[in-house]
Amino acid sequence: MAQNRKGIVLAGGSGTRLYPLTLPVSKQLMPVYDKPMIYYPISVLMLAGIREIMIISTPQDLPLFQRLLGDGSQFGLSFVYAEQPKPEGIAQAFSIAEAWLDGVPSALVLGDNLFYGTGLPKQLRQASETSAGATVFVYQVADPRRYGVVGFDADGHVDQIVEKPADPPSEWAVVGMYYFDAEAPRYVREQVPSARGELEITDLAQRYLREGKLQLEKLGRGTAWLDTGTHQSLLDAAQFIGVLQERTGLSIACLEEIAWRQGWIDAQELEQQAERMGKSSYARYLQRLLKG
Ligand code: TTP
Repeated sequence: MAQNRKGIVLAGGSGTRLYPLTLPVSKQLMPVYDKPMIYYPISVLMLAGIREIMIISTPQDLPLFQRLLGDGSQFGLSFVYAEQPKPEGIAQAFSIAEAWLDGVPSALVLGDNLFYGTGLPKQLRQASETSAGATVFVYQVADPRRYGVVGFDADGHVDQIVEKPADPPSEWAVVGMYYFDAEAPRYVREQVPSARGELEITDLAQRYLREGKLQLEKLGRGTAWLDTGTHQSLLDAAQFIGVLQERTGLSIACLEEIAWRQGWIDAQELEQQAERMGKSSYARYLQRLLKG
């Protein structure tokens, strides 16, 4: 099913925890070391084999994303853009995308989430090929209270998901990447906003859980999951990427490289992108790939 699953990157929100940085510019356009933050979640969709992607952001920021990313053909992708007028919840992405999704399964990734790990592409592809039900990924964190958290029954099966619990049932937080079958937009239509006025992604996942259609995938310690919502976590993410890239000489979330390795763009197109990147180290990296 990987070929017809569509991807959504939700890159709206208000980014108030990053003020004053995000007063003029969207959080998801902030740099994480050498590339804009949104490259990282887009790379995750690409690694899952997804090529049709909707980018959702605020009316003010959407033109900036369009300027950065265009129609996606330089990455062998096809981008469409849609506005979220107000940040009324992550699950609202499915109301916005409903007509475009046109009855196909989807993968939603938050524009400020960063994933990295050797086993990850395989896990992503597997989830992408599961056409029925939903898959959520969980990650062990020291302080789960800021996230949606899963609880397990005596047999180790997930039996609850709670949003930002004061008393978390486990240390396993739901990460900002979700795979849903074609039912998600309909379920969201039937959802009511929470006390904080949002269409909660946790409520949508709970619906799949109640119907026995929720699959849980653990991301182990070989995988890194970082979010970038605060000044410190943004710096941590940049340093993490910087250390790995400098040590190995390999780029993380270089979209042209992923497209080229997947055979979605050819060497000539890669060369053109290298030229577009001017005198940057990013350009030199693309040129190095071409030399082999
Ligand atoms: P949050 O980190 O919850 O919110 P935020 O980005 O607005 O930041 P802050 O708390 O600093 O004000 O959002 C998580 C991600 O989801 C982030 O990438 C923004 C995005 N988002 C939307 O695009 N629309 C929404 O309605 C919500 C709730 C979040």
